[in-house]
Amino acid sequence: MVSGKSNVLLSVWKCVYSVVVKSEPFLFERDVSMASSNIIELKNVNYRYDRDFVLTNINLAIPQGAFLGIVGPNGSGKSTLLKIILGLLKPREGKVVLFDQAQAKFREWERIGYVSQKANAFNTGFPATVYEVVASGLTKKTGLFHMIGKKRRPQIEKAIKAVSMENFMDRNIGELSGGQQQRVFIARAIVSEPDILILDEPTVGVDSKNVQTFYDMLDHLNKKLGITLVLVTHDIGTITNKVTHVACLNNTLHFHGSTADFEQVKDQELSQFYGHDVQRLHHDHAHEGSL
Ligand SMILES: Nc1ncnc2c1ncn2[C@@H]1O[C@H](COP(=O)(O)OP(=O)(O)OP(=O)(O)O)[C@@H](O)[C@H]1O
Ligand SMILES: [Mg+2]
Repeated sequence: MVSGKSNVLLSVWKCVYSVVVKSEPFLFERDVSMASSNIIELKNVNYRYDRDFVLTNINLAIPQGAFLGIVGPNGSGKSTLLKIILGLLKPREGKVVLFDQAQAKFREWERIGYVSQKANAFNTGFPATVYEVVASGLTKKTGLFHMIGKKRRPQIEKAIKAVSMENFMDRNIGELSGGQQQRVFIARAIVSEPDILILDEPTVGVDSKNVQTFYDMLDHLNKKLGITLVLVTHDIGTITNKVTHVACLNNTLHFHGSTADFEQVKDQELSQFYGHDVQRLHHDHAHEGSL
């Protein structure tokens, strides 16, 4: 039998858990070292828009806590692959499993944050502040101008802080640089506290000086906030120093594995994959290059 005192302690814990742990998961580092399961799996996926297949025989697993970099030449199917994961396109053949559920049954889309390749082609005349744009990430179902209560303010500010844009909170989005806007869209994508964040070429438009701080921010999201990251990029020269896993896509996956294994792939093989000379930034920082 549980004593009265234990009951009180149990209710206090439940209350603390529901108020602090459940509603404020970003206050705590998620224990990614415990994570072993794949949160996204693609099995024998094939896709074509109309005529030719642009994705063939894709088998890809994304472990929880990973930082996966997807690289490949223009038109190799990277954005298409992301849209399949996001359910925006349906595979012609094969299976997609999200958080252990068949994609057709999956409903918890707030667990997946996404910033599209076109996010930086934003209409700069749009009349909304940074705060309002980020807040709109909480109203995916109800539309941009749905009222958001004051009690969501800490959550919104936390997302803005996570991308180091707290000094621009009341600025109009149109007055920001491309790189700053990109950060705001990332804040919008993480405000609903997703488990995974998918970014399609986020460093396009970010100058080389700011690319490093941009990657530092992603590192913070991945390591401190425990958000699994998927990043499509041409910037293979830099990513091998940042990501835990690499996928090389050119209609089919030519490589998919840990960054350590990717380091073993010869530059010559990589150049064949891309069809031109490629240099990676090795961990001795001897070479630098991008695609
Ligand atoms: N809506 C569409 N209708 C028909 N074909 C499409 C459509 N979108 C993309 N494609 C084609 O599918 C192929 C893959 O396109 P995708 O956008 O996935 O490539 P990508 O690797 O993201 O390229 P990039 O690096 O230029 O962004 C390309 O040949 C493209 O022309
Ligand atoms: Mg693309």
